[in-house]
Amino acid sequence: MKINYDRDACQGHNRCYQLAPELFDVDEEGYAVLLVTGEVPAELEEKAKLCADNCPEFAIEVEA
Ligand code: F3S
Repeated sequence: MKINYDRDACQGHNRCYQLAPELFDVDEEGYAVLLVTGEVPAELEEKAKLCADNCPEFAIEVEA
């Protein structure tokens, strides 16, 4: 699984960081920073889906 994160769509709601700090950090302006490049570790796949489902701006997508 891979995560696609659209920085232009992000509005800084930070649900992703709250749900999965292993996958997302927050920059100094409050926008998300994707920490994982490439394949998401298997144990974090459910969290990645949760982030995608919970971003109100649809800035996060997961790709099987
Ligand atoms: Fe941005 Fe969505 Fe996370 S708006 S901070 S990617 S919950």
